[in-house]
Amino acid sequence: MIVCGAMKSNKNFKEFNFSEAKLVKKTLLFENCLNIVVGKGNFDSDILFVGEAPGRKEDELGEPFVGASGKNLDKLLLRVGLSLDDIYVANILKCRPPENRDPTKEEVVAHTPWLLKQIREMRPRVVCSLGNYATRFFLALGKVEDMKKQDKISDVHGKVRKIKIEGLEFKLIPLFHPAAIIYNRTKLTPLWEEDMEIVKNEVFDKVVDCR
Ligand code: URA
Repeated sequence: MIVCGAMKSNKNFKEFNFSEAKLVKKTLLFENCLNIVVGKGNFDSDILFVGEAPGRKEDELGEPFVGASGKNLDKLLLRVGLSLDDIYVANILKCRPPENRDPTKEEVVAHTPWLLKQIREMRPRVVCSLGNYATRFFLALGKVEDMKKQDKISDVHGKVRKIKIEGLEFKLIPLFHPAAIIYNRTKLTPLWEEDMEIVKNEVFDKVVDCR
């Protein structure tokens, strides 16, 4: 039977039966969300963007960055001559926290193995963490209890670091979150463009100093 107006959900997709997905499915976030938001873009590319968590629109449609911040991300990519053909986008959390509340430590611990699986399979040269939350996750090398101690995005954006988490090695280049840029376009857009030049240079093999 087709129920008109019913929201389609991917939560019962049979391909989500690997161990990392099962961990996600045990969390309250999974209970409360409409869709699991996995990622979008080109999985064969060398650049992975990582945001924080799906918002309302992302939860409804099952895709990351489709709301206001996603529209801004598309515009920002266009400004630097890129599109979703050149990057893949995923999030730290695979399900929307109710009312966009902060996730608990247990929720982050349960959701990030799926992100690490994505990194293991994609093998990007550069991971760009979008905003404070994703940046602090990587700077803390995945240890949630160390996230609060990490530097702010305003201090580390555009800086290249080598990161090793659970045997996975990649270069991290933090970027301002597209949602933050909406509220401070004049100041942050030029900084985002400069940071993306660093990303492009890194991917096209030019030398950039690592700390
Ligand atoms: N903000 C994020 O960090 N991720 C999304 O998917 C949407 C908004």
